[in-house]
Amino acid sequence: MEFSIKRGSPEKQRSACVVVGVFESRKLSPAAESIDNAANSYLSDIIRRGDMEGKAGTTLLLHDVPATLCDRVLLVGLGKDKEFHEKEYCAAIRCAVKALNETGASDGALFLTEIAVKKRDLAWRIRQAAIIAQETAYRFEQFKSKKNEVRHPLRKLSVVIEQRSKLPLAEEALAQGQAIAAGVALARTLGNLPGNVCTPGYLAETAQQMARDHALDCQILERADMDALGMHSLLSVAKGSHQPPKLIVLHYKGGGAEEKPLVLVGKGITFDSGGISLKPGLEMDEMKFDMCGAASVLGTLKAVAQMELPINLTVIVPSSENMPGGSASKPGDIVTSMSGQTIEILNTDAEGRLVLCDALTYAERFKPATVIDVATLTGACVIALGHVATGLFTNDDGLARELLHAGEEAQDRAWQMPLWDDYQDLLKSNFADMANIGGRAAGSVSAACFLSRFTKKFDWAHLDIAGTAWKSGADKGATGRPVALLTHYLLKRAGKLN
Ligand code: BES
Ligand code: MN
Ligand code: ZN
Repeated sequence: MEFSIKRGSPEKQRSACVVVGVFESRKLSPAAESIDNAANSYLSDIIRRGDMEGKAGTTLLLHDVPATLCDRVLLVGLGKDKEFHEKEYCAAIRCAVKALNETGASDGALFLTEIAVKKRDLAWRIRQAAIIAQETAYRFEQFKSKKNEVRHPLRKLSVVIEQRSKLPLAEEALAQGQAIAAGVALARTLGNLPGNVCTPGYLAETAQQMARDHALDCQILERADMDALGMHSLLSVAKGSHQPPKLIVLHYKGGGAEEKPLVLVGKGITFDSGGISLKPGLEMDEMKFDMCGAASVLGTLKAVAQMELPINLTVIVPSSENMPGGSASKPGDIVTSMSGQTIEILNTDAEGRLVLCDALTYAERFKPATVIDVATLTGACVIALGHVATGLFTNDDGLARELLHAGEEAQDRAWQMPLWDDYQDLLKSNFADMANIGGRAAGSVSAACFLSRFTKKFDWAHLDIAGTAWKSGADKGATGRPVALLTHYLLKRAGKLN
């Protein structure tokens, strides 16, 4: 979908469809008001007759409205005036884009970003509109022989604003929204790809293609390279698979040469069968999503590169399959991580932390300002937080505040979990420096504690996205979370947000 910013009054738009809002109180949005005035109360008459009550989630399509230059006017219900907050705003945009796709209009002029939303400025409203419009239009149909055709898809959406003086700000917000949307779409597509296509090698090729597209530095470490570095924890996960593991490293350099990079590490298990500690069969297909952490850091990098943010960003993806087999790791095996710490693998299904710990140690060489890892790490996190919030663990309170705030801003929320030393005892092993599991209680915390043993040298946060990276059931599919959270955090760090 093509986006643009326009200026002008709604009745003068030569568009296939002008989109305006109506509250439940029959109050019209500013643009609806303006049409109503020009058209001799045409809209308020319709509303009085009861054809549009302004309820959230409802729309009414009008044709040839008097005194307008557009073919159609789409009225979007906004719900109660007093309750029109960010969630309601986003729902209204979603509803508008869906309705537009069902009309014959191939272009639309959106006036909803003019409506005031508590605590959210014009830039936020425009960014969010672009993200939601793309998200609503997203399809993953490359493996369907019959595509689900939208007969008259929306091709162009212009966001119309009132004040000429706000044009530059609006343009920038739109560009940011489009970049975030592109990052989210990439993350969703990588997540949705089946495990037989999206292998570690495929992720590596995707990274190399991104490097060509955006002039990034890219290195792919092969098994032998990792072996030489002593990454025996990471390599132990790949032992049962016929797919060679990859350690993918990408550098984006938008900041000063001396500036320390921010490092994002994404878990890239392209299929998690559990290994010898095999998972039960039910819903095992969903373990193709076990690389959604990797997908989200690649998506974030794409958004950052597209926006040309003035920061240095490094992305590291440890990628492997986790499969059973004659040469697979076994419960009780002991491996030495790149850090020198030894690990007793009590459960081969706790593989995420085994690949992440070596990637985190590897991150040290880039002298990072901050390291954030993103991983579909524990089923326990789904039990704790469901599918609403991402689990946040960190050794730095300031970083916690920034990430929680970014999540609020981006409507991609996280919730902080404890990382107290009291939990470290759970990882005690009789035979090695630590075990790779800590028992059923506080499973997401003991996983984070495990990682914390490899992140002592920098400010670090861990995002457990096991509950938020994808949806199950009828809407099964990757969500692209937490690309929006991470991108907002980086935008803020780059000084691009208020
Ligand atoms: N990828 C899974 C975590 C997961 C499970 C995410 C279900 C989303 C839904 C991870 O590798 C795993 O298997 N974790 C184990 C850890 C346990 C063995 C300590 C888990 O959560 O069961
Ligand atoms: Mn597992
Ligand atoms: Zn896993």
